[in-house]
Order: sequence, then structure tokens, then C-alpha cells
Amino acid sequence: MGSVRYAFRFGSWKPTKEEWMLASRCIQKEEKDRIAKFHFANDARAAMCGRLLLRKVIAESEFTDILWQDIKLARTDKGKPYLEDKNSIVDTDLATNFNFNASHQGDYAVVALESSWGCGIDVMKVEMPTVRVEEYFRLMNRQFTPAEWKTIKGAGTGKQQMEMFYRHWCLKESYIKAIGIGLGFDLQRISFKPETLTLSPGTITIDTQLVLDGCLATQWKFQETKLDDEHFVAVALRRPLGKESEPSIVPDFKHLTFSELTSSSQPILPPDEDYWNNFNKKRDKPQRK
Ligand SMILES: CC(C)(COP(=O)(O)OP(=O)(O)OC[C@H]1O[C@@H](n2cnc3c(N)ncnc32)[C@H](O)[C@@H]1OP(=O)(O)O)[C@@H](O)C(=O)NCCC(=O)NCCS
Repeated sequence: MGSVRYAFRFGSWKPTKEEWMLASRCIQKEEKDRIAKFHFANDARAAMCGRLLLRKVIAESEFTDILWQDIKLARTDKGKPYLEDKNSIVDTDLATNFNFNASHQGDYAVVALESSWGCGIDVMKVEMPTVRVEEYFRLMNRQFTPAEWKTIKGAGTGKQQMEMFYRHWCLKESYIKAIGIGLGFDLQRISFKPETLTLSPGTITIDTQLVLDGCLATQWKFQETKLDDEHFVAVALRRPLGKESEPSIVPDFKHLTFSELTSSSQPILPPDEDYWNNFNKKRDKPQRK
């Protein structure tokens, strides 16, 4: 399949010693070291699952010829992970733009893989702000265009407005992640126009349009859904240059168990009991309701 979507609920994953040690052996050393530095346990679990998801989709893809333990993920100067060994991408017309992206926030880590369309993904958990919704929106004013604020503020109750806010946030981040840049992009250049106002788990909504620098950006497609009542997810897809086709299938997210997440994994690093002891002392960051 040219398109893969997986989700793993790390928020309710309480790793056993064996699970955490297995996970930490199956990622690259620099990523293991980076994850060790997180203060909160849920941030460490989130980043760990993001890495495992990336390796899983690459190792299992029909468009690659590479084993889990041989995968070497590098990052662009802006931090976007990519597969270092381009020779391991199978040479088909479809796989000319083989790429992937991961996101982790709230309780979920997610990944999208595409064989030919460029992609970026973002997941967001809806949280009510600690200040009044109107005040929060005033503080965030520059993040969205006047047209987007009209949609957000017209969504109904405060909770519904916050849901529309997070949906738009996901869309913007998915776009930013597809083009691979981070901070510094002028968010006023992109404005989303959702056609379907309500998203629901199990249904992929594909009719949101992007206005880029004042013009309808028809080379971009967006796939949106909710993973559950609280989590929005958006996948931004950029049409490959010179291709007229639409994305062939619109895949829903497969929710993985830990054993599915690690089903293709192979240890790269030796066992490290201290790594578990370090993680086991950490606590989750308190979450807002
Ligand atoms: C880099 C950036 C895009 C990551 O987004 P985020 O929402 O903080 O984090 P996510 O959980 O969605 O994604 C993190 C993962 O994306 C990937 N990633 C990192 N940098 C990336 C980049 N420049 N492009 C694409 N993917 C990137 C990595 O896999 C990362 O996980 P890891 O570092 O644990 O391996 C973000 O830091 C950023 O700069 N965002 C723009 C800020 C902004 O203006 N947002 C307003 C939207 S309204």
C-alpha cells in the first residue's frame, strides 16, 4: 500500500521493564540519549513511540528493502526525519517521493507514510484554556487568518470553538511539517476552509481546502479525522510534481497495541538496565482537562 496511517495511544501505555528496555534497544543511540533527557515520563513515551512508529512503517513498507536494524534516520537542519540510505527505497515510479512523518501530542503518537505524495502529520488533543476562551483567542490572534477566526468563533459553544481551533491548528502544523520547516513561517500566508464542519472517528474528511498566498492551492489535499472524542489529526498531502492523479486511497488510522508497534523490531543497541531505572523514576506531566 502506498499510504499507511498508524496511531498508538502512549497516554495509556504503562511500559513494563521488558517493554521499555526492548523499545530503547530498537532505536538509534542519539534518539535513545535524547529521550533520556525528558523530564516527564509521558514526553519520553511520546518521543519513543514516534521513533518506533517511523521505524515500523519504513521496515514494513513494500517500497523499501531494508531491515529494521539497518534503518538510519537522519534529520534535516529543521529537524524533519528522513531515511538516510536512499538506495533502500525500491525504484518504482510510485516511490519517487517516498516519505513519512510522525507526530505526538496529548495521548497519541501517529505516523503517515506515502510512496509518492509529500506528507506531514499532526495530532492535537483538545484542552480547555486556563483563561476564558475569548481571552485565549485574543492571545493567539496572529496564528490564524480573519477567515479562519470566523470559522473558529462561529463554531458554537466555547468547547466547540476550542475544537475548531485545535482542528485548524492541526491543519496548519500538518502543512508546516509537510514542507519541513519549523518556526518562522508566516502563518497568515495559509488559510484553511473546512467544508465539513464536524469530524468523527472512523471517517476521513477530505474536503478542506487551502488558500495559499490568496490562491486556492489545488496541489494540496488534507485528510482529517478524530482518533477519539478529544484528539484531532490532520495529514497534509502535496501532489508530486508532474502528476495529475488524486491520492488513490484514503486510509483510516489503524490503532496499534505495543506488540503490533514492535512486531518487526530488531534490537540495535545492547540491553541497558540503567535506562529503565532512569525512566521508572519519572512521573507524567499533569494534564489539563
Ligand atoms: C518542528 C515542529 C513543526 C514540530 O511540531 P510539534 O507540533 O511541536 O510536534 P509534533 O509532535 O507534531 O511532531 C514532532 C515530530 O515531528 C518530526 N519533526 C521534527 N521537526 C520537523 C520538521 N521541521 N518538519 C516535519 N517534521 C518534523 C519529528 O519526528 C518530531 O518528533 P521527534 O522530534 O520526537 O522525533 C514545530 O516545532 C514547529 O516549529 N511548529 C511550528 C510552530 C507554529 O507556528 N505553529 C502554529 C500552528 S497554528
